[in-house]
Amino acid sequence: MKATAIANANIALVKYWGKRNKELILPFNSSISMTCDGLHTKTTVDFSGSYGKDTVLINDEELKKDEKNIMAHIERIRQMAGITDKAKIISESNFPVAAGLASSASGLAALTLAASKAAGLNLNEKELTILSRLGSGSASRSIPEGFVEWHHGEKEDGSDSFAESIASKSHWPEFRMLACIVSEARKPVGSRAGMAQTVDNCPYYEGWLKTVNDDIAAVKKGIAERNFTLVGSTAEKNTLKMHALMMTTTPAIIYWIPQTLEIMHSVMLWREEGLESYFTIDGGPQVKVICLQKDEKEILSRLSSLDCVIRAINCPPGGGAQLSNSHLF
Ligand code: DP6
Repeated sequence: MKATAIANANIALVKYWGKRNKELILPFNSSISMTCDGLHTKTTVDFSGSYGKDTVLINDEELKKDEKNIMAHIERIRQMAGITDKAKIISESNFPVAAGLASSASGLAALTLAASKAAGLNLNEKELTILSRLGSGSASRSIPEGFVEWHHGEKEDGSDSFAESIASKSHWPEFRMLACIVSEARKPVGSRAGMAQTVDNCPYYEGWLKTVNDDIAAVKKGIAERNFTLVGSTAEKNTLKMHALMMTTTPAIIYWIPQTLEIMHSVMLWREEGLESYFTIDGGPQVKVICLQKDEKEILSRLSSLDCVIRAINCPPGGGAQLSNSHLF
C-alpha cells in the first residue's frame, strides 16, 4: 500500500499544443520528446496510513491551486483499484516547478506509477502511459525511456493514444539537452488553459495541424539516422511555430522574457560561427539548448558567460519511470 517512483522530465522536440478531447486529454497531433536524465521527480504514495483525508506535499509545500487536477487523478486510480483509502503523497523535484521545465510531466508520471503500484495495480508500460496521459498529456511521455512518441490516436475512448519509446537512451547517447534556467518564477498562464484558448481562437491553428505531421516524420527520420542537423533544425522550427500560435491567441500568451531572447539569439549566432546548436522552449521562459556531446563543454561555457543564465542542467537521454525502494517517508 506504499510505493515510490522516480520519473524523468521530458522535453518535446515536436510539441503538443491543443486537445481534441479535454476530459480524456486527447491531443490533435502526435508529439516526440526526449526523456531527460538529470531532471527528475520522486514521489511516494501511501494508502495504508488510515489517513482522514488526502494530503499532497510537493517540494515541501502543500498543494493549493490544483491546476492539473491531481486530486481527481488520485481518485481515478483509487476507483480503478477498487479501494477507498485516503492517501499521503510526498513529491520532490530537483528543478523549478511550473516554470516551463516539464515538472508536471515528471510529477504526474511518478505519481501515476507510485499510486497505481501502492493501490495494488500492476500496469504495463503502455497502460501506464495512458493513465499518466489522463493526469497530464505530456506525462505520458515521461514513462518510456530515451526518445518517445506520444501517438495522437483516433479512437474516441483514447485507448490508442499512448506513448512508446522509438529509440532507447543508448541509441544516441551523444544527444544533449542543456536546460537553461533564466527565471524561477511560476509561469503566468498554465499550459492547460493556454492551449484551450489557442484551439478556441488562434487563426493559425489550422496551419499548425497542416505541417506538424511533416515535423514528426522529419524528427523520427533524424533520430533513426542520428542526423543531428535534421532533428535540431526541425525541433527549433517547431518550437517557433508553437510560440507563434501562443502569441496570436487572444488573450496573447507570451512566455518569453528578455533572457529567453538573449539565449535564442546567442544560439543562432553560435550556429553561424559553426558551433551547431538549436533551441527549444515550452510553456515558460527557460530555454533548452540542443547540442551534441562533443560541443557541450564549449556551449556550457558560453552559456555561463551570459548574465541571464542562472543555471544550466546538462541532460543526456534518460531512462523510463522506475519504482524505488527508498521512500520519502
Ligand atoms: C508546451 O502536458 O502540461 O510543454 O495535458 O493540459 O496537462 P496538459 O498539458 P501539458 O502541456 C505541455 C505543453 C508543452 C509542449 C509539450 O511538452 O509537448
